[in-house]
Amino acid sequence: MPLMTTKPMFDLAYSGGFAVGAFNVNNMEITQGIIEAAAAEKSPLILQVSKGARKYANFRYLRHIIAAAVEEHPELPIAIHLDHGDTVELVKTCIADGFTSVMIDGSHHPYEENIKVTAEAVKVAHASGVMVEAELGMLGGIEEDVVGLDAEEYEKNVEKFLTDPQQAADFYKRTNCDSLAVAIGTSHGAFKFKHEAKLAFDRIEQIMKTCPNLPLVMHGSSSVPQEFIDLVNKYGGAMPNAKGVPEDQIAMAVQKYGVCKVNIDTDLRLALTAKIREVFATKPAEFDPRNYLGPGREAIVSMVRHKLKAVLNSAGKADAIMKQWEKLGKPLPSYYKQVKAA
Ligand code: G3H
Ligand code: 13P
Ligand code: ZN
Repeated sequence: MPLMTTKPMFDLAYSGGFAVGAFNVNNMEITQGIIEAAAAEKSPLILQVSKGARKYANFRYLRHIIAAAVEEHPELPIAIHLDHGDTVELVKTCIADGFTSVMIDGSHHPYEENIKVTAEAVKVAHASGVMVEAELGMLGGIEEDVVGLDAEEYEKNVEKFLTDPQQAADFYKRTNCDSLAVAIGTSHGAFKFKHEAKLAFDRIEQIMKTCPNLPLVMHGSSSVPQEFIDLVNKYGGAMPNAKGVPEDQIAMAVQKYGVCKVNIDTDLRLALTAKIREVFATKPAEFDPRNYLGPGREAIVSMVRHKLKAVLNSAGKADAIMKQWEKLGKPLPSYYKQVKAA
């Protein structure tokens, strides 16, 4: 069962010039599209579930969909991660549900409070063999259950919200987190920049120096592909001025500056929505969900394949990560040890 923690993935990604794609899952078609792409590219994968996804799908359903994906592709290294966990209670629930990695996002709290909640989550998670991602600095954009800042206000004052490299070092030392989500100019959602899209590469470089060996995570990494925005707008949608992070900047953050985990949700939503709109507009008599969800799933496969290969450079890395996992003695969170022993 190649369900694993993120540890063997980040061990290799840290200085390997690639990042692990972390994709948000909310239903079967999205999950299948991501898995099929990773299998075709022989890529490691982090499937992440937000609080909103747990609420929408009922995690029991998502758990079985993810388990089916793991069963279908035993050759792939896969981690299940809680995205933007906001309380230690939720972290505990996810550990009990079998997550191999969790995020505790205390970035909207005052600094000392962020340290407190993160350190507590780390203590709880490590006791069960689960890895913890924390966040320091503020991202723009607002999504369901994720605290963020208004895009316009964010862009105007971005310097003030970026992760402080010295503070990051203190935060790492005092929380013992396993990876850190950093604010480097990205935002959640489809409207990331009003003006020029620009990541703060110098911040990544400085944080890599002040926090050696700490894998860095980039949230808000959707590139908002123009082909999907065009389809949405052509077929009845209204998403003018949608703008993402240019792919060459994501590739640079990963391959030159060493970001280890790249979070993508918006692009999955866009691919699915664009294709559904296209079918509805061009085949008005269509009412079989398989005939509009299917093309959406196909669009996700091609888009994710492209990202894994050309942007994240993680294609072909699955085998090496499996070997690293063996080398580490196949450590699994306590949930899986219990399941195995039963
Ligand atoms: O970063 C946020 C993710 O895109 C999850 O969004 O809370 O709407 O599921 P959500
Ligand atoms: P996007 O909105 O850019 O896809 O970011 C997703 C994310 O950061 C999930 O945690
Ligand atoms: Zn995020």
